[in-house]
Amino acid sequence: MTVEEKVGQLVQLPAHFGGYTEKLEEWHVGSYLHCTGNMVHELQERAANTRLGIPLIFGIDAIHGHCFDNDSTVFPTQLSASSSWDLDLAYRMARVTAKETRATGQHWTFSPVLCVGRDARWGRVNETYGEDPWLIGEMAAATIKGYQGDSASSTDNILACAKHYVAYGEALGGRDSYEVDVSRRKLLSTFLPPFEKAVKEANVASLMTGYQAIDGVPVTADKWLLTDVAKTDWGLDGFIVTDWENVRSLHTKQTVCADEKEACYQSLMAGNDMMMSVPEFYPLTVELVNEGRVPQEILDEAVSRILTKKFELGLFDELRSYMGNREQDMSTPEHMAVSLEASRKSLVLLKNEGLLPLEPSKLNKVLVIGPNADDVIAQLGDWSFGSMQAGATNDTFHRDQTITTLQALTLAGQEHGFDVQYIKGADCEDETFEELVAVQDAASSADIIIACVGDTLAQNGEFHDRANLDLTGQQQALLEVAKASGKPLIVNFVASKPLTIPWVKDNADALICGFNAGPKAGQAFKEVLFGEVNPGGKLTISFPVHVGQSPVYYNKYQGWHAQNCAKLEGEERYIDMPTAPLFSFGEGESFSTFVYGAPTLNKTQLEKGEDLLVTFSLTNTSSRDGVEVAQVYFNDRYSSVTTPIKNLCGFARVELAAGESKQVVVTINQEQLAIVLPSLERCVEAGEFDLMVGASSKDEDLQKIEFSVLETYSL
Ligand code: BGC
Repeated sequence: MTVEEKVGQLVQLPAHFGGYTEKLEEWHVGSYLHCTGNMVHELQERAANTRLGIPLIFGIDAIHGHCFDNDSTVFPTQLSASSSWDLDLAYRMARVTAKETRATGQHWTFSPVLCVGRDARWGRVNETYGEDPWLIGEMAAATIKGYQGDSASSTDNILACAKHYVAYGEALGGRDSYEVDVSRRKLLSTFLPPFEKAVKEANVASLMTGYQAIDGVPVTADKWLLTDVAKTDWGLDGFIVTDWENVRSLHTKQTVCADEKEACYQSLMAGNDMMMSVPEFYPLTVELVNEGRVPQEILDEAVSRILTKKFELGLFDELRSYMGNREQDMSTPEHMAVSLEASRKSLVLLKNEGLLPLEPSKLNKVLVIGPNADDVIAQLGDWSFGSMQAGATNDTFHRDQTITTLQALTLAGQEHGFDVQYIKGADCEDETFEELVAVQDAASSADIIIACVGDTLAQNGEFHDRANLDLTGQQQALLEVAKASGKPLIVNFVASKPLTIPWVKDNADALICGFNAGPKAGQAFKEVLFGEVNPGGKLTISFPVHVGQSPVYYNKYQGWHAQNCAKLEGEERYIDMPTAPLFSFGEGESFSTFVYGAPTLNKTQLEKGEDLLVTFSLTNTSSRDGVEVAQVYFNDRYSSVTTPIKNLCGFARVELAAGESKQVVVTINQEQLAIVLPSLERCVEAGEFDLMVGASSKDEDLQKIEFSVLETYSL
């Protein structure tokens, strides 16, 4: 290959704007992103006719389903689906997405997101698996295995991309892509482990670097993170792609490079292999190599990483131009069944004052209110064609496969003989509130009121961080009017992320949280309402009481002053409010009741490297079949560095028939107890630990048992 042909392989350009498809032959372009429809085929043909005929690799944001294609199966967002705590479901969702993505000629999804969602102000919290790094790693590994299958060379498989490498969600103040101030020790102990699992356990094919700088070093220019950690220490055999325009930003935004050529130089030397959407990279890098500044070996290393994946995908062979059959491969009944299952499992019952499930035959009239009762875009959330990358309206994309809450209840009304009246009443985005009297009138003749409140797409995603997490528009006023009627109030929380809804917790008779729970979320909500489905989801993210608590998360550190205060007042608190969240990580109710037996351990004194096995009985004492997500946390009592008050280290999603009892065994690998020392050495430290077992991260839900590790050793 010539220098020009090699540099071209490192170039990824947007297909749909900028006119860059014209550059394919001249710049020997190796990859396009956001290329859809017939253009995929046309560009691949053109690439085949170049001197070396190297195939293109197409990347796309198939984030919760291959959502930029209207024929695809859409799934709940990552945050929503993570409430299922169902790794097999995550795997199967990814299998469906892989099949459908490959069927449209695409090879590579920019998914999953491994960012830690701790600050609800951040616009991209919906894209995360929540706030726990260990759970994020588990969900991500299952998803990556689903995307990639056993071998990439199959019409069912695509490459995954673990992003945004790393700690991108820690942006100061929840401000997307701002500076991140975490130490290397914190990176190693909290933010890198999910990525390490993605590389070592799931063999992820690519990483994407975040937009941000960490302690003054832009991730895109950080050789330690890219080359030393990911490639050398972990053995990443795939490639690293930058995020959008990251290379140029080293010059224009982060100003660590005086010109764009220097930015290209630093990006390459740090260990990036493919540069997203930076056209000037091509001519400037050809110059850099010809001038001898960038060594050939650096260029060759990047090219061979990319070409290896193209070979593995079968693109040099029979799969070069593979396109599936839309009718047969997309949105099949089997695929849609996985989506419906995901919607059902994503719902979290956060409050139920004995009201649910309802008996539909006893209802005469249901009043539905709120902006998100019949809004496809608010329901599906980001990256589902309504997002920045492509415009859509409620009437176009994914409308056919979507069942809103209003639609589902209307059908149920026809089936069971009750009336459904809908008054929107308020809007997420404006202050409209003209139907006060109408709501009052309608409420007086209704048996129950169902309020669908939350946020909408314009209020989340990239560039859409929030400083205020209250319900917007007149949604709160609408809820208060409904409450004043004295009729039972059920809130369906359709939002991208946690919002500050203490009033809802205090005043609603029932609260179901689905976030963006997918196209069938309306149906799933209706099924829970009437007890056709017993909710089993648990939150993977805490809800702040007030935005001033942000960031709020369960695996926090014990504060000195907070402890003094706790002695005085019985709880850790600000002077003007508690620090405890409104709803905690791991929380979620069921129509069943579960009783945990006392946990026992295989050993209370662990020799070096021994696994810890915790066993406990779990009994469904109700007359309804149900699912309980039993959680296991640990606390390192005394250690060389401060450690979180508790860390999730295992869980079991247990299905229990009415009255059934099971023995549950959860295995904890001793390495999960490791800490990172100030020297950056990772070690397991001898000493005493608490193991906690129960229904959520809240102390009152957990039973404690002690164990010790006998030996200190490095990993
Ligand atoms: C986002 C990435 C995404 C990329 C390509 C960026 O703005 O940060 O998550 O994969 O665009 O669409």
